[in-house]
Order: sequence, then C-alpha cells, then structure tokens
Amino acid sequence: MKKIAVFTSGGDSPGMNACVRAVVRTAIFKGLEVYGIYRGYEGMIENDIKRMYTYSVSNIVQRGGTILKSARSTEFRTPEGRKKAYENLKAHGIEGLVAIGGDGTFTGAKIFYEEFGIPVVGCPGTIDNDIYGTDYTIGFDTAVNTALDAIDKIRDTAAAHDRIFFIEVMGRDAGFIAVESGIGSGAEFVMVPETATDLDAVVKSLKNLRKTKTSSIIVVAEGDDEGSAEVIMNKVKDKIKDKKKEFKVTTLGHIQRGGNPTARDRVLASRCGMAAVEGLLEGKFACMAGIMNQEVVYTPFGDCIGKEKPLIQDHLKLIEYLSI
Ligand code: F6P
Repeated sequence: MKKIAVFTSGGDSPGMNACVRAVVRTAIFKGLEVYGIYRGYEGMIENDIKRMYTYSVSNIVQRGGTILKSARSTEFRTPEGRKKAYENLKAHGIEGLVAIGGDGTFTGAKIFYEEFGIPVVGCPGTIDNDIYGTDYTIGFDTAVNTALDAIDKIRDTAAAHDRIFFIEVMGRDAGFIAVESGIGSGAEFVMVPETATDLDAVVKSLKNLRKTKTSSIIVVAEGDDEGSAEVIMNKVKDKIKDKKKEFKVTTLGHIQRGGNPTARDRVLASRCGMAAVEGLLEGKFACMAGIMNQEVVYTPFGDCIGKEKPLIQDHLKLIEYLSI
C-alpha cells in the first residue's frame, strides 16, 4: 500500500482535526502518500480529493470542527454513487481509506469494502459515544464538558429563582452525554432512551420539592422515550398543577458539537488516527480502531454498528443515589 486517503463524515465532533493530523503524519512517517477527501462520501463522489502534506495539518490539533469538512451523503447510499466514488479513488491510485465518523460512516464503509474491496479502517468520531468497540468516541468528552459548563450556569439562575429546568442534550438514540453531564452537574433527574422514564416518580419528587430543595435540574437526552425536553416539561407541568412552580426548558443543541477539544479527546483522536494507519498497513480491513481499557482494539464494522453499547450501570446508580 503506497497511497491512502482520509475523510470525515456524518456529524462533526471536536477532535476530528487531531485525528486527521495523526493519520496524515503517521502515513507520511511510514512513507505513504496521503490524500484528504473533502465533505466525506459526497467529496469522494465529486472527486474533491487533494494531496496532503505534513504542513497541511499544522495548527489544527486544538481546533473543533473538521478542516476536511463533513456531510451526510444520500448519493453514496445508491450503487451508482458508490461506483462513482470508487472510480475517483481508482483514478488517484488510492489503495486504502481512513474513515472518521460514526455509525452512518461505518455502514457506508462496510458496504463499500464489500462491493469494491477497498481496504478501510475507521476511527470513532461522534459526540454521541454510541459506537461499540471503543470505551469513548472522539468528541464525547468535549461535548460532555460543554454541556456541563452550560448546566452549571443554568443551575445558578435556577437556584436564584427557585425554578425547575428541563435541559435537553444531544446523543441521538443514546444517553451517554445526558448521563455524564447529569452526574457531573449533580442533576436531580436524568432521562435517557436506554431506560423507561418514570414521569410519576419525577412528579412525586417535584411536588415535594420545597421540603428538600427549591430548584431542580432535569437533564433529558434528546432521544428519550417520553419525548423532547419541552414535551416532557409540559407533561410534568400538567400533572403537577401547581401555578407557583415555575418551569423552564433549555435545549443546548449544536454548541455541544463545537469548541476546542479537551486533552482527552486530542489524545484519543491521535491514538485512533495512528492506529488506523498502522491497521491498514497490517491488513486489518473493514474494522474500526478504538481504545478499550487503554489498549488499541480493532473491531469489525459489523459489530461497531450492530452491537449495542450499554450505559455503565454504576453511572445509573450514581444518579439514583446522589440525586436525593
Ligand atoms: O450524531 C451527532 C449528533 O450531534 C446527534 O447528537 C444529533 O442527534 C445529530 O447529530 C444532529 O445532526 P445534525 O447536525 O445533522 O442536525
């Protein structure tokens, strides 16, 4: 293998740049030619592919977003789109790929490998942390810290006004951001898609609020089974029927996707990027390079996207025990 390419795809996450940097520099260190594909699979189809050098990735390790840009490609879902992408790679002589992204990215990479035999190794880049085969995904730690900072600020005003806040965090169908930002901020309740939400228990506790605490923070994962933070707040408000209690909703939204990556994310991203290039050179294809228990682990794409990654049970206990 002499020429490889790297791309970022799906929702961007802080640390993707550090990962691109690690891929480019490791590849060059190993004597490979390396290319950057812009806008993920979209750029692969449109031939938006450029050679990268050591200096192409200077001064990016600390930056959020992705210098290669990202997209969610619908054309790549079609056989015609994938054929175009393959032809472009072939024209450049690209013999291996590093795909940085989440489950959508790996689903595409798996099909692409099966159809055209292009060797590809993935790096887990998503704030959601919902990928099996790695303890943490690139960007998760930064997103949790961003959410935590916002929740701390909301706590100040919630306490000042004796208000009940429902704060919605991202995570798609997973509750990892909600759980860790909830523990870190001392939230009274955390609602996640992985466990059934007991609204009656919340109502009961909020009715007794003034006996113990005067304000409350409820972190809601966007994929919760009872609905969005706003929907849940309205359900709870209707059940409580107490005009003196004030309810507010804050949706944190895309601020969770931006910002300078934390040290944890930069190190994780750099390790995964290096491991992806090493994996390609060692013939480990159609798999993701992740970190589990401090060690690099290569997990087949089928498992990364097909196997469930459970929440840490101790985390759920912490929320239950500490929020009384
Ligand atoms: O997968 C990352 C993520 O930020 C999810 O948490 C969220 O549900 C989704 O992407 C939002 O996607 P978009 O930026 O396309 O609206």
